[in-house]
Amino acid sequence: MKITNICCIGAGYVGGPTMAVIAQKCPHIKVTVVDLNAERIAAWNDQDVTKIPIYEPGLSEIVGEARGRNLFFSTEVEKAIDEAQMIFISVNTPTKTYGLGKGMAADLKYIELCARQIAAVAKDNKIVVEKSTLPVRTAEAIKNILDNTGNGVKFQILSNPEFLAEGTAVSDLLNPDRVLVGGDTTHEGNQAVEALVSVYANWIPKERILTTNVWSSELSKLTANAFLAQRVSSINAMSELCEMTGADVKEVSKAIGMDSRIGSKFLNASVGFGGSCFQKDILNLVYIAKSYGLNEVADYWEQVIIMNDHQKRRFAANIVRTLYNTVSDKKIAFLGWAFKKDTNDTRESAAIYVADYLLNEQANISVFDPKVQEKQILNDLNYLGSRSQEMNAKQMTVTEDPYETCKGAHAIAVLTEWDEFKNYDWNRIYENMQKPAFLFDGRNILDAQKMKDIGFVFTSVGKHL
Ligand SMILES: NC(=O)c1ccc[n+]([C@@H]2O[C@H](COP(=O)([O-])OP(=O)(O)OC[C@H]3O[C@@H](n4cnc5c(N)ncnc54)[C@H](O)[C@@H]3O)[C@@H](O)[C@H]2O)c1
Repeated sequence: MKITNICCIGAGYVGGPTMAVIAQKCPHIKVTVVDLNAERIAAWNDQDVTKIPIYEPGLSEIVGEARGRNLFFSTEVEKAIDEAQMIFISVNTPTKTYGLGKGMAADLKYIELCARQIAAVAKDNKIVVEKSTLPVRTAEAIKNILDNTGNGVKFQILSNPEFLAEGTAVSDLLNPDRVLVGGDTTHEGNQAVEALVSVYANWIPKERILTTNVWSSELSKLTANAFLAQRVSSINAMSELCEMTGADVKEVSKAIGMDSRIGSKFLNASVGFGGSCFQKDILNLVYIAKSYGLNEVADYWEQVIIMNDHQKRRFAANIVRTLYNTVSDKKIAFLGWAFKKDTNDTRESAAIYVADYLLNEQANISVFDPKVQEKQILNDLNYLGSRSQEMNAKQMTVTEDPYETCKGAHAIAVLTEWDEFKNYDWNRIYENMQKPAFLFDGRNILDAQKMKDIGFVFTSVGKHL
């Protein structure tokens, strides 16, 4: 089947950029991205293309090129499903916050709603593509719903997990290491796989498009995220040992990263990983393993999360300890709130948990992030429910000027690795702080010697104090 009309349900961090790139690279395909969130769709349609709801380098240019030509953003979900031959499901799959599997399993209610809606609307055969990250064997459940509640039309379910990283989404989509497509091993399944492969083949070399069975594809995505997060927790575990022994984690990671069997990526020690995916996907993996009675497998992967929580907590505790065991009524400046640089996404950001810890110690926190607004920062803290919204608003200030944020502070904590932080006038920042001026580099991006020469009491992750 030659695909000429695609619909994507979910206009988020995955659906938006992924579909924008498909539309740019396949001008012969009409791509409609739909979402229930009218505000989000309105933002995708903003006349000023720099105001689209997701910040990713290069994204607004691509949206500007394709939008209105063959890329459309709409709230008319049913119309888009009806018209499309291929429907991507790209909705959120958060960790369950209630009932069975609470705090571990993926909440698939949004996925199920999509499946039911597709079943109700479809009047001709459709290919349904799982783009969201899903527990292994979810395709079975989707197929069950579609086959039993549909209008007798035929559905093929494909798994096509997304491997983009936020902050580099556009270049990852334009030039992926690989694209993975999992499908049924029947004749119809193979045809559906071929249809999706031919979409990607418009810009991706065929040898980088990998086809597998559905279950391998679903599990590969969880496995990839588990391995990536595991590397971060592994180097972070070593960072604590470095601080005790006089080893320097940067030197250790360089030394091991030059071993081609290990490789150098994802070996930066830090305050801990964040983002909407790593924790959620590992918890999901742990839940699946437990549900098959594989307790050792579950415990092994759970340790990655335990280590990450420990790293965030000990970073915050170290601030309190260093500031003479109290931060009560002291001003602590945060540089960065996003979970990593070059994104405005704050989900599960380490900054949220460090802030929560310090607020419990009665600190006053002032935040600057180049891409995150005050409303989001307060929402993130209020969501934790650790104290009243009024208290959060009272103890937190957010400014649009980093020098203002740091003015009069007892300590600065760098929580996101934004490049611009490296180039600030650190002399000016130092002059305007309380003394001693403490600086905690949670991302190891600043020049330690330079900071010490200016006069800061400087601490980085994984270096002997
Ligand atoms: N963010 C990432 O870097 C990333 C990378 C790879 C995979 N993933 C996976 O992709 C999926 C989506 O993640 P995201 O970050 O884009 O989430 P997101 O929360 O940014 O976007 C999901 C969107 O789906 C919409 N939605 C939910 N139910 C809907 C429905 N029934 N009909 C229409 N719209 C609906 C929501 O309103 C929301 O705008 C998740 O499973 C995630 O694990 C994310």
